[in-house]
Amino acid sequence: MNPFVFHNPTKLIFGKDQNKALLEQLNNVGKKVLLVYGGGSIKRNGLYNHVIESLARADKEVFELAGIEPNPRLTTVKKGVEICQKQHIDFILAVGGGSVIDATKAIAAGATSDVDIWDIITKKEIAHSALPFGTILTLAATGSEMNSGSVITNWESNQKVGWGSPHVFPSFSILDPENTLSVPMDQTVYGMVDMMSHVLEAYFHHATNTPLQDRICESILKTVIETAPKLINDLHDIEARETILYCGTMALNGITQMGARGDWGSHNIEHAISAVHDIPHAGGLAIIFPHWLKKSMNERLERHVQLATEVFNVNIDDKSQEEIALEGIERLSEFWTSLGAPNRLADYDIKDDSIERMADIASENGEFGNFKKMNKTSVTELLKDAL
Ligand code: NZQ
Ligand code: ZN
Repeated sequence: MNPFVFHNPTKLIFGKDQNKALLEQLNNVGKKVLLVYGGGSIKRNGLYNHVIESLARADKEVFELAGIEPNPRLTTVKKGVEICQKQHIDFILAVGGGSVIDATKAIAAGATSDVDIWDIITKKEIAHSALPFGTILTLAATGSEMNSGSVITNWESNQKVGWGSPHVFPSFSILDPENTLSVPMDQTVYGMVDMMSHVLEAYFHHATNTPLQDRICESILKTVIETAPKLINDLHDIEARETILYCGTMALNGITQMGARGDWGSHNIEHAISAVHDIPHAGGLAIIFPHWLKKSMNERLERHVQLATEVFNVNIDDKSQEEIALEGIERLSEFWTSLGAPNRLADYDIKDDSIERMADIASENGEFGNFKKMNKTSVTELLKDAL
């Protein structure tokens, strides 16, 4: 295990009926509030009305930025920065999924900075501060509600870039499973694939002596595997929604990665795919991850074997380590397919002709991946295998 410091300042307000906690949280923030949300799901499920009422009761002056795109765009972030600076916004309230929260993080950092927000996102500059913001999460997936990461797409340059700063942890996040009841089947499935992928990224590392980290990762994976069939059978199963909501947060709030550095190469490859094709993040992951697992078997094969036996209950019998590992990967693939996730690039009509572009983008900063080093050649092979 590597030495580590863990500091996560986000106040997590979790559970049924927790929407009502918003008013109390608002009482502790400044007067001018920018409400940020997506394409309208919060208007259709009634959450918008609740939020507006709470803001009125807390006597806030409210500004709105609607229309944050899935795979949020730099142009929209810049609109938010402009509103914050022009109107002297004190606090931002993000109501939505990971895209709304990620955009809010970039707006919050851009609002207090003199430099262009894209320079912060692309790490040419550092965020020295950010406006405070809170979130109401409506989709269990990214973990953005309790981490300091954000992913923004510059559509003009076809770049989808992950960045982070200790200044962009949400000050509070309200996670009421009722808010996720309206998430449609496809996004529900994508969310579960995404959170499992976050755990898998964390699980594949070169650190030794990580028994508790391993058990935490395996528990999250097993809990999603156990709960997912119930949830897709009944999207209104509030207990299944609650469990999955908790899994999503635990999968990427730092706890799985204490003392070990996960790989994150599959996320880099997926970001290159969605920078060119604008597909859902976890749709790309469902396609990429099994291929990455096969490619990384020449690293620490015992990790793949442990995943197969501990999470997917693969019998050892008289099989070789490779056979056990491959069976585990097959079970993962079958599980995602059973939920209705895509498993080939062709499912999104992505063909051979954009592979070079995607491989270039994925490897534009050189080799990547902390567990398995990937480069343009290996990404190209992986993408071809995934066609
Ligand atoms: O825009 P609205 O109308 O709200 O609709 C959204 C959107 O169309 C809809 N939705 C959300 N909550 C709903 C709902 N529909 C009905 N009822 C609800 N309660 O779902 C659609 C997708 O929303 P989005 O926020 O894009 O999904 P997700 O939470 O999966 O976020 C994906 C983004 O997060 C990034 C991804 O790359 C992608 O850009 N990631 C962020 C991470 C982070 N900050 O830590 C890590 C992840 O690995 C990921 O890369
Ligand atoms: Zn992800």
